[in-house]
Amino acid sequence: MKVTFKKDYLKDFVSDSEVELLKPAASLARKTLLDRSGVGNEMEDWLTLPTDYDRDEFARIKKAADKIRSDSKVLVVIGIGGSYLGARAVIEFLKSEFHNEKASKDGSTEVYFLGTSASGRYIDDVIDLIGDRDFSVNVISKSGTTTEPAIAFRIFKDLIEKKYGKEEASKRIYVTTDAHKGALLNVAKENGYERFVVPDGIGGRYSVLSAVGLLPIAAAGIDISALLEGAKDAQDEFAKDEDILNKPSILYAIYRNILYRKGFDVETIVGYEPQFRYLFEWWKQLMAESEGKDNKGIYPTSAIFSTDLHSIGQFIQDGKKILFETILDIDKPISKRVVPAADDNTDNLDYLLDRPLKEVNEAALTATAQAHTSAGVPNILLKLDNLDEFNLGSLIYFFEAAVAVSGYLNAINPFNQPGVEVYKTNMFKILGKPGYDK
Ligand code: PA5
Repeated sequence: MKVTFKKDYLKDFVSDSEVELLKPAASLARKTLLDRSGVGNEMEDWLTLPTDYDRDEFARIKKAADKIRSDSKVLVVIGIGGSYLGARAVIEFLKSEFHNEKASKDGSTEVYFLGTSASGRYIDDVIDLIGDRDFSVNVISKSGTTTEPAIAFRIFKDLIEKKYGKEEASKRIYVTTDAHKGALLNVAKENGYERFVVPDGIGGRYSVLSAVGLLPIAAAGIDISALLEGAKDAQDEFAKDEDILNKPSILYAIYRNILYRKGFDVETIVGYEPQFRYLFEWWKQLMAESEGKDNKGIYPTSAIFSTDLHSIGQFIQDGKKILFETILDIDKPISKRVVPAADDNTDNLDYLLDRPLKEVNEAALTATAQAHTSAGVPNILLKLDNLDEFNLGSLIYFFEAAVAVSGYLNAINPFNQPGVEVYKTNMFKILGKPGYDK
């Protein structure tokens, strides 16, 4: 397992006996998941996705990604929620938040995400950025009816057809949607677009390791086989018959539930690398949509330190004690940069001369964890061995398994999202969609 659960900052908040008390319920929750006998079990295919996936489709994904990388300077990915967050999370986590700027310099494919709001301005900006460069489109929607991505796709379908003509455009549009139904499926069939499937038994927020995430991720030049290998490692670890307290995902589920039961209603996931930002956005969706229902659940938020220490850090340290933090840290340095020499020591930094920035960042982490825990804010620490595809695949599965166990501990269905559907339906009514009364 590439994820390690560390209790270093929890001893004042959770006792071993409290963990023992919750152990039987966590054990039952895991068993219920593995047996597929719990509520929402029709949406549990993510559990074995790293081993049970369509090999032919996987090969087609790689082929389509190669084509996009050879004939397109830009890939426009259209989707919202679970239909885009995972791909963006993986690309930025592994490649940096400057992925597009770097790609434009070295001539590889830039990836822009659209359909995440109904902002006309955002669409205008992406169209300007593309300019007259070659591009392709991957539109992703399980239902095929979500308004924001549907509008963005209508605009881009027109643009791409005007630029290349209908026939060539049809070779540059890739559709990822339900295998059996939906407006998007009909459009894809009618126009002969290459199709990929959002699997029946996997909800949007659990779908990053299916075609939903894998095509844009591969088009960004990331090794999707290694990503799946890492997830398989975590799948094996979760399924292995052993003391459940040896399993990091179970420990994470148990500790966060004990904290929740003690009144810590908010969880802030924290990282010290800006490129974690979208992984945290994905994590927030996974946690919020899985757990926030039946008037229950831990409210998930995120922070990038040190910058947010200079804003919400004040509240965490001195404000109302409603939250606990989960820190994500990577063991191996991801940069070799050190504090350089200068002509003089007017800035008083010579005491740090030649020391790696990793050491400074680790000092910020330790100092902050000490400060926050001493003020009554529990800190969970998750360590990842390295920043690469294998480790990230493992981390993705780790979070999915943890939140599923956590949901069962709270007696809710972690695999539906009825709350999200309410706004979608209201929007259809307000805009006068046929079949929806105002
Ligand atoms: O997790 C989910 O299922 C949701 O967030 C969906 O991914 C999101 O609402 C987009 O739906 P669709 O893919 O049907 O357009």
